[in-house]
Amino acid sequence: MELLVCVGSACHMRGAHAVLEECKELIRELGLEDRILLKAGFCQGRCTEGVNLVFVGEPIGGVRPGEVRTVFDWVILPKIRGGNPDGTHRTVGGQL
Ligand code: FES
Repeated sequence: MELLVCVGSACHMRGAHAVLEECKELIRELGLEDRILLKAGFCQGRCTEGVNLVFVGEPIGGVRPGEVRTVFDWVILPKIRGGNPDGTHRTVGGQL
């Protein structure tokens, strides 16, 4: 499963590299190296919503450094385990 972190200029200004590092550390901490392929990517055209992530095609916007654990708890881990309990999109930081 691919997890993409946008490192375009707008997302970079909002802490994309810190978010990327947090993702890397959490993937290692949770032993998900064989389940999640972490990638950095360029602008996704949703600059005002950054930091933007995409996990297996699902956009996750408004992620700030320090919020990655929440993203994993609410979006990524449920999807790995078979989908969000209520099937809805999750937004961190009040933005989509
Ligand atoms: S810079 Fe991240 S969506 Fe544009």
